[in-house]
Amino acid sequence: MRRPFVAGNWKMHGSRVENAELIEALLLGVPGQPTAEIAVCPAFVHLWEVGRQLKASNVLLGAQSVCAEPVGAFTGEISAAMLKDVGCRYVIVGHSERRALYKEDDALVARKFLAVHGQGLIPILCVGETLDERERGLTTQVVSRQLGAVLDLAGVAAFEAAVVAYEPVWAIGTGKNATPAQAQDVHAHIRSVVDSRDAKNAARLRILYGGSVKASNAHEIFAMPDVDGGLVGGASLKADEFLKICAAVHVH
Ligand code: PGA
Repeated sequence: MRRPFVAGNWKMHGSRVENAELIEALLLGVPGQPTAEIAVCPAFVHLWEVGRQLKASNVLLGAQSVCAEPVGAFTGEISAAMLKDVGCRYVIVGHSERRALYKEDDALVARKFLAVHGQGLIPILCVGETLDERERGLTTQVVSRQLGAVLDLAGVAAFEAAVVAYEPVWAIGTGKNATPAQAQDVHAHIRSVVDSRDAKNAARLRILYGGSVKASNAHEIFAMPDVDGGLVGGASLKADEFLKICAAVHVH
């Protein structure tokens, strides 16, 4: 059995005041023992304060990115040790916005994954194809390549404490989610890729779906046998919507 997981990716949204309001509403609504593990990923500058607001709650803290290097002259970067120091448990790596807008390639994503893992934090590794790649029938090939780069560098043992998020690029922020069947197909593929290296870790691996998850579609997507929760962007900025998504998980 895998405990479902829902993470809110706040992206470059929020202010100290807005975040405090969102957290207050979230903590009022989150059940004492939620079925899902729940995390929120604010911007770097807000991590410490949001972390303090979450203290003594059952909502965990995550970051949206990280530097692959451990320490040193890397102006503007944030290390995995720094994220650990401010209370993060999770770190998103390989989000498609980082891949596309900031030219992060598979090799860099793999190094970031390793940096996070090395600090005892849990990477949320994002993979997913563009619309063009899907239309050309390349979805499983692209996802295998993205996953393979990380498996090759970090080793399958590192997946014992990792989360994978399947995020089709064409579904992110577009309002156009993958159908439950489309998500299930790719999730099953991701599990099979890990299974080919280690069956136990594959069976335990939590694979989240991300891309226009909303309260109205979460239940049917999360019902799929290889979908263990969601990575939620836009809908994580509204407490009531996010709480409904958290409540829509299924235990597989
Ligand atoms: P979205 O974003 O829910 O707004 O589509 C998901 C993500 O980018 O993680």
